[in-house]
This record gives sequence, structure tokens and C-alpha cells, in this order.
Amino acid sequence: MGIAVSPQIHPQVAEFIDKPRKMLINGRWMNAASGKTFPTYNPATGEVLAQIAEGDRDDIEQAVRAARKAFDSGPWRRMTPSERGRLIWKLADLLEQHSEEFAYIESLDNGKAFNIAKVADVPLAVDMFRYMAGWATKIEGNTIPISSGGKFLAYTLREPIGVVGQIIPWNFPLLMAAWKLGPALAAGCTVVLKPAEQTPLSALRLGELVMEAGFPEGVVNIVPGYGETAGAALAAHPNVDKVAFTGSTEVGKLIVHAAAGNLKKVSLELGGKSPNVVFKDADLDSAIAGSAGAIFFNHGQCCCAGSRLYVEKSVYDRVVEGVAAEAKKIKVGSGLDPETQMGPLVSVEQLNRVCGYLEAGFSEGAKAVVGGHKAGDRGYFVEPTVLVNTKEDMKVVKEEIFGPVVTAMPFTDPEEIIPRANDSEYGLAAAVWTRDIGKAHRMAEQLRAGTVWINCYNVFDAALPFGGYKQSGWGREMGHEVLHNYTQTKAVCANIA
Ligand code: NAI
Ligand code: MG
Repeated sequence: MGIAVSPQIHPQVAEFIDKPRKMLINGRWMNAASGKTFPTYNPATGEVLAQIAEGDRDDIEQAVRAARKAFDSGPWRRMTPSERGRLIWKLADLLEQHSEEFAYIESLDNGKAFNIAKVADVPLAVDMFRYMAGWATKIEGNTIPISSGGKFLAYTLREPIGVVGQIIPWNFPLLMAAWKLGPALAAGCTVVLKPAEQTPLSALRLGELVMEAGFPEGVVNIVPGYGETAGAALAAHPNVDKVAFTGSTEVGKLIVHAAAGNLKKVSLELGGKSPNVVFKDADLDSAIAGSAGAIFFNHGQCCCAGSRLYVEKSVYDRVVEGVAAEAKKIKVGSGLDPETQMGPLVSVEQLNRVCGYLEAGFSEGAKAVVGGHKAGDRGYFVEPTVLVNTKEDMKVVKEEIFGPVVTAMPFTDPEEIIPRANDSEYGLAAAVWTRDIGKAHRMAEQLRAGTVWINCYNVFDAALPFGGYKQSGWGREMGHEVLHNYTQTKAVCANIA
């Protein structure tokens, strides 16, 4: 396994990580008020990659003040929707011009394959900004015929919600920043963004492009730091009008508590344990390839990973063998190696967490058809793993593993599979593989999940809403639905008699 960092480090990136990176507050790059920095690691080697200003309560205080001022009295609110849209579009153009560099940063900081970041993470982020740039001019209210006596003109205005705190995870660092910033800016909000402590680099580089694009000072503030300090201070801050969070369900619940102080609005995109159901009448070759992609894409570090594979009994052996064969073919290595298809997990914590789940699975009787262990002697690599002999009450079937581990279970009766697929506290995504279109759409209706894929998996689009049923979250990301997270409706009623 080639896990060396390329000696020809991208020159712009080398320069970027050479000095401790500062935080962006009110249009200026600042050290932490405490003067502290924290390290971010290269997960392929476990070595320190860069030092980052460590934001905490005081920095959040300053950033919120800047965002408040930018919202309440800055030029941002006087800009036309068209001007806002053009700024967001310009940010997309700048990001696109720096695609290579961003893919490289993502690969170094998160571990994912450079080649995949270049064709997935970066272009999806660009597309999100472009899609949202278009919405800036299309956020409309309604005129409403009312039936009260007298003569009234009644209409609604959709106004930006105000100062938004955004807390994002490490699995798609740049893309999550785009999912959050794009709609908030389109709606006319101002933002304090806290990237994940494991992967702060791409958001900070994006902050430079935000300033280059010409956003007024204080509109976008970026404060890196830890969750329990900077994140918690942001979620609890009384001058923040709304908090948008993506991450674990456990922390999502903490955010809800923290938000209670000023009853700020909350949207949450949380964990999942998504069922992927293969019927015997499916195109099995594509179901096999798709089911492998469903779990192994991004090393299983996807909230919507297809981690519970259910296969109709008569084709179970063939599908499990097929997915295991796909797993064996995956080239695991450093994200910078051009051959690499799967890099390391993001951190030593995630490595230990995933290996802990594997041990729990084995001790409860699960068997690995392929994989099952840590890989390599440095870095945070785990083998792509297919577990069989699993039962519904096992930890590996119930809980989110967030690694390249799928449990495969047979089913006999198509009627039985709906309650089993829905038997989860989560409800983020689900997939069905079948050639029977009636069955596919009946399943889509009955699956309790925010996304249902039919004969495909992991298809994302800026226009397609994404989010969770049950404990997978509140609200939707992407599509025009996300704009509801960042706007509020005002009803205006005029007596025109
Ligand atoms: P996490 O939920 O702790 O971290 C996500 C973000 O929340 C980070 O920016 C972190 O700094 C922040 N945060 C943490 N504690 C906070 C607090 N008390 N107040 C405010 N912000 C806080 O997730 P973690 O620990 O990195 O990963 C643990 C598990 O969470 C993973 O194994 C996976 O199951 C799940 N997860 C789900 C994600 C998703 O996309 N839905 C993304 C990342 C993790
Ligand atoms: Mg890192």
C-alpha cells in the first residue's frame, strides 16, 4: 500500500499550510484571541499537516458581533438580489479556477482520493454555489386573497432569518461548507461558519476566495476550533438567529438544547443507517456495483451510506459474493496516489471507532466475507468489509459505523422487507434495486427516509432536497427547500377600503 505523501506537494498548498492559518472575522485574518493554535493531521500518515488558529468563546463573540453588524447595518442588506447572486456566482467561478488546489487540500486534510475530490467534492461545491446564485433573485412571497370582512391587500415577504451559525463535519469539508454558505448567502443572511477541527483547511482557503469575490466584511466569518468550545459557544449565542448543523445525532441533540436559550431556529442533518434492498428481479450486475458504491464511497464516511444491505434470498449468495469481489478490487492507499480508490479514515478516533464496531460484530457472531481489519502500519486505514451472519439486534446493524463496513442480510418475502428496512431510529436514505417499476415506487412510498434511490445510489444534485426523517434531522439541504432554513415569512395586511 503506497501511503507516502507525494514529495511534489502542490506549490500553492505547500505555501498555504506552511504558516499557522488564521481565522476570518469581519473581513480580516486574525489569530485566536487566546493566541492558541491546534494541529490538523494528514490521515494517510498520522503526521501533523498544519497549525490552525484555535477559535473559542471570545473569537465566536467577535465573529457574531461582526455578522450582526453586517446584517443589521452593513452594505449587504442594501444590495439587490441580483448583486448578491452575482457575488455568489463569482465565488463559484473562483472555486472552479482553483479546483486542483482544493481537491489537493481535501485529499491531504481528509484523506480522500484526490481524483475523487476533483470529480465529486469540488464540482458539486461549485454547482451548489451556482444553483444558489440563481435563487437569490427568486425568493418570493405570495399575494393572498383573504375572506375577512372589508377590503384588504394581503401579501407575504420572505426575509432572511439573520445571523446564522453553521457547524459542519469533516467527511465532505468543502462541499458541506458550500451546502451551508450557498443558501444562507442567497437568502441574504450573514454567517459564522465553524469547520470541523479535523478538516479546517478547505473552508479557510474558501474564505480567501469569499473575500476575493468581494463579499462585504462580516458577511462570512470563519472560526475554526473544537466542537465543545467554539461550536458550543456558537450554538448557544444569544445574538445568533439560527444554527445549521451537520454531524452526529448525539451532538445534534446538544445543539437543540443549546439553541433553547434564545429559541434560535435549528436545522439538523444527522446520522443514518440506510437500508439498501436488492430484489431477485433486479439487474444484478448493476445492483452489485451500486451496492458496493453505496457503502464504500468516501470510505463509508457518508451520512447516507447504504450500510444495511438486504438481499432477496434466492440471489443472496451471488450478490454478497459480488459485493465482496468489488471490495477486494478497491485500491486502498494515500489519497494522493493516483491509483487510490479509497483513502484512510479521517482520524485516529474514527479508526478506533470503526475497529471497535468490527470487534463488537465479531464477538456477537458476525463473519467477514472480506476485510474486517485495520490496514497498513501507519495512517488510519480500514479494509473494505462485508459482514454476514448478522442479526437485527446487533450493534453493527443498529448503529451508524461511518466506515467501509456493510452488513448483508437475506429476506424471503417482499412484504417482510418494509418493516425491517424501516426498523431504525434513523431515516436519511434508502435504495431499492428491481426491474418491477410498480414495486419500486410502492417501496419508495413506504420507506421512511428523506431520499429513496431506485436502481442507483448516492446521486446528489444541488436541485434535489436532501435530509432526514426521524432522528436523521430537521429540515432539508439543497433544492429550493433549503431556503426555508434561511428565510422567515412576514404576512403584511393592508386595509385598502
Ligand atoms: P460531531 O458531531 O462531534 O462533529 C461534527 C461537528 O460538530 C464538528 O464541527 C464538531 O466540532 C462540532 N461539534 C462537536 N461537539 C459540539 C458541540 N457540543 N457543540 C457544537 N458543535 C459541536 O461528529 P464526530 O465526533 O466528528 O464524529 C462522530 C460520529 O458522528 C461519526 O462516527 C458519524 O457516525 C457521525 N457523523 C455524521 C456526519 C454526517 O454527515 N451526518 C458527519 C460526521 C460525523
Ligand atoms: Mg486533518
